[in-house]
Amino acid sequence: MKKVITYGTYDLFHQGHYNLLKRAKDLGDYLIVGVTTDNFDLERGKMNTCNNVMERIEAVKATGLADQIVIEEYRGQKIDDIQKYGVDIFAIGSDWEGYFDYLNEFCEVVYLPRTQGISSTQLRQERPSVNIGIIGTGSIASRFVPESGNVNSAVISAAYNPDAAKCKAFCEKHSIAVTARDTQELFANCNAVYIASPHYTHYDYAKSALMAGKHVLCETPLVFSKAQAEELYAIAEERKLVLMVALKTAYCPAFGHMFSLLKSRVIGDIVEVNASVTTLTDESSEKLDSKRFGGSMSENACFPLLPIFKFLGTDYCNINFYSKMKNGVDMFTKAVFRYEHAVASFQVGLGVKTEGSMTIAGTKGYVYVPAPWWKTDYFEVRYEDQNLNKKYFYPFIDEGLRYEIKDFVSSILAGGYYHDKVSRKENLKMAEVQEQYLKGENVWKL
Ligand code: CTP
Repeated sequence: MKKVITYGTYDLFHQGHYNLLKRAKDLGDYLIVGVTTDNFDLERGKMNTCNNVMERIEAVKATGLADQIVIEEYRGQKIDDIQKYGVDIFAIGSDWEGYFDYLNEFCEVVYLPRTQGISSTQLRQERPSVNIGIIGTGSIASRFVPESGNVNSAVISAAYNPDAAKCKAFCEKHSIAVTARDTQELFANCNAVYIASPHYTHYDYAKSALMAGKHVLCETPLVFSKAQAEELYAIAEERKLVLMVALKTAYCPAFGHMFSLLKSRVIGDIVEVNASVTTLTDESSEKLDSKRFGGSMSENACFPLLPIFKFLGTDYCNINFYSKMKNGVDMFTKAVFRYEHAVASFQVGLGVKTEGSMTIAGTKGYVYVPAPWWKTDYFEVRYEDQNLNKKYFYPFIDEGLRYEIKDFVSSILAGGYYHDKVSRKENLKMAEVQEQYLKGENVWKL
C-alpha cells in the first residue's frame, strides 16, 4: 500500500484545498492529512486564521478524501510523521517548490500544481474589515501600522495629527489613503480609532471618537481620573462600542497562559507580585514634561499594574508611593500596595534604571519572568525542589502589537461579545491609581 501525506492550515476551506487533496490522494492508496494547530500557526506567525483547528479538521474530513487526519503541532514533526506512519510520498502545493527537498532523505517529495486564483489569504481579505483611523503619528503609531498588516480584517484607513506636515509624511510613508485635516474628517473615514497621541490628550480624543460612534483602542494610561474613565465606559456601553486599552502585555500569548496557570494554583496562594519597567529617557523628552502629565508613573505604571491587578485583584487596602523627583516630575517611583493577605510593589523610571524583571511569589513556588517581562515570550515556574522547575516559551513577534490589534478587531466583529483582557474594573482602578498619585496622596518625595 502506497501512503501519501500532505499538510496545510486549510483555513476557510476552498476549491484549491480540495483539488490539492484530490491530487495527493491520486498519488497512492492511503492519504494522511496533517492540519496545523492554532498554537503552531501562531508560533510561525500565521495569526490571522478565521477557523479554529476543530473547524479546519471538520472541513478536511467533509471532503471524504482523507483516510487519516493528524494534527501538526511542532516544527520538525513532518520527519517524525513520515517515519511513524511509514509514508512513501510527501505531497504539497507548488507554492512550496524546493522548500521541502530535505525530506527526500526520508521519502519521495512531490510538488503538486496549485489551483490558480484562490487562497485563504484572498478569502480572508474579502471578509468584513475594520477601518481604523489613527490619532497621533509618533513612534508607537509607526510600529502599529506594519503590525496591523498581520491582522486579518484590520485596515488603516486614515490618520490625524494636528501637525499637518507630520501627518502627511506619516500617511505617505505608510500608504494611508486619508490624511485627515481634523478629527471630523478622520471619523468620516473610519469605524474605529486608535489613539496614540500624548497622554494628556487621551480623554478628549477618546470622548469625541466615542460620541462620533467609533470604537476606541487607546494607549495607556487611558485617562488620569476614575470619573473620566467611568464617563468613557458609560458612553461606550450606551452606544455599544468597544473601548479597549492598548496595553500590549495583556494580549500576548505568554501572559495569557501565565494567567491561566497561576489561576490554576501552580504556585499556591499568591503572596507577592513585584515588577519593574524603567526606560532611560532624554531629559528634554515630552515624556518628562510636568505640565503635560509627564513622568515615570504616567509613562510606565500601567504595565506593572496589570499583573498586580490580575493576580491580586483590585481591592488593595492602600498604596504608598516613593518618588525621586526632578523638574517637577518623577524620574523614578516605587509603589507599595498592601492587600489583606498579600503585598505588591513596582518600580517605574524614566531617569533611573533597574532590572526589568517580574517575580510572583506563592506558597508553593514562584514565577520568574526575565527582563523585559512586559514583552513576555518566556517565563519559568520555580519550586523548592528544582527538579520540578518548568520553563515555558511562547511567540512574541516583532513589537507584539499584533495581539492587541487582533483582539480589538475580533471584539468589534463579534459585536462586543468578547472577553476583554483588561477589564473595565481594572481600567478604572488604573485611572484611580494615576489620580491618587497626581493628587499626591501617600506620595513621599525623595
Ligand atoms: N493550495 C493549492 N491551491 C491553492 C491554495 C492552496 O493547491 N489555491 C495548497 C497549498 O499549496 C498547500 C495546501 O493547499 O499544499 C494547504 O495550503 P494552505 O496554506 O492551508 O492554503 P492557502 O490557501 O495557500 O493559505 P494561505 O493563503 O493562508 O497561505
